Amino acid sequence: MIILAIESSCDEFSVAIQKDGVIISNIISSQIDEHTKHGGVVPELASRLHVQNFNWVLNDALDKSDIKMEQVDEIAYTQKPGLIGSLIIGQLVAKTLGDYYNIPVKGFDHIQGHIYAANIESKFVYPVLSLVVSGGHTQIIYIKEPLNFEVIGTTQDDAVGECYDKVARVLGLGYPGGPKIDKLSLLGESGRYDFPKIKTEGMYDFSFSGLKTASINLIHKVRQNNQTIHLENFCRSFQENAMETILTKFELAINDKKPATICVGGGVSANEYLRKRIFSIGKVYNVNVSIPNMEYCTDNAAMIAELAYQYIQIDKK
Ligand code: KG4
Ligand code: ZN
Repeated sequence: MIILAIESSCDEFSVAIQKDGVIISNIISSQIDEHTKHGGVVPELASRLHVQNFNWVLNDALDKSDIKMEQVDEIAYTQKPGLIGSLIIGQLVAKTLGDYYNIPVKGFDHIQGHIYAANIESKFVYPVLSLVVSGGHTQIIYIKEPLNFEVIGTTQDDAVGECYDKVARVLGLGYPGGPKIDKLSLLGESGRYDFPKIKTEGMYDFSFSGLKTASINLIHKVRQNNQTIHLENFCRSFQENAMETILTKFELAINDKKPATICVGGGVSANEYLRKRIFSIGKVYNVNVSIPNMEYCTDNAAMIAELAYQYIQIDKK
């Protein structure tokens, strides 16, 4: 069974090939350099760059895996959620290939893909409790059995990655801010800056607009007083506040749902602090921990291939 997967929901165009459940290539074209000039992702630019890039990404993925289009059994692409123009380019590429080579084409959910990225290298033992942390989502999802998704907590306003990116922008760190804040925070001291603990109505829901506003106000206040922000210390306190807010809720959900496996997914799962903390939480609760390899954290087509493979396995039963 050979699956060719396409992921194009935001500013990466990625093609992956999976053979009998094993990823054999995963090519990702990043547009970060182009978007950095504008301080964030420009949707129109993202779709135009997808049009420029899809051909070499597709050829590279086929070459690296030594697979011909004629051998592909199924084409999977990201259907939603994402930037509409970006999604349409991926869908067009998938459908054109499907029509030309007479291969079935199916659309998949990006968030479900992020969850199953953690299943690529280590396999889930169910039930699974997943923490999805990306530029657009902060969610806790309970998966009692394969592909049975129950969202038990979700984003009320800004997602955690979005909060990182917006605060980093005001700090002058550029786009994407998440990895930059993460790196700086590792060099900083805890407890040097105070941020509010934000409450939400739903016990597993998330709100990051308050932390974003408080952070930006603090930066402006320090600058108005002609003082400078100690970047490393600021990032350390910001990161601890953001991550511990999420992890407190995640731990409550672990107590409640008693999963056999905990996992993380989405771009923010590349975060060093979060990765370490998830492992330590896994030890405390004596559960399996599945954390995606770095290349499967941010947007990539391998996770869509893995998700498509899981759906095929279920259909077979
Ligand atoms: O999953 P993703 O590639 O795209 C979306 O589906 O949104 O996630 C991108 C997000 C960005 O907000 C980026 O700043 C954040 O992931 N990110 C990080 C780190 N690496 C990427 N946030 C915190 N720490 C990181 N190391
Ligand atoms: Zn994503």
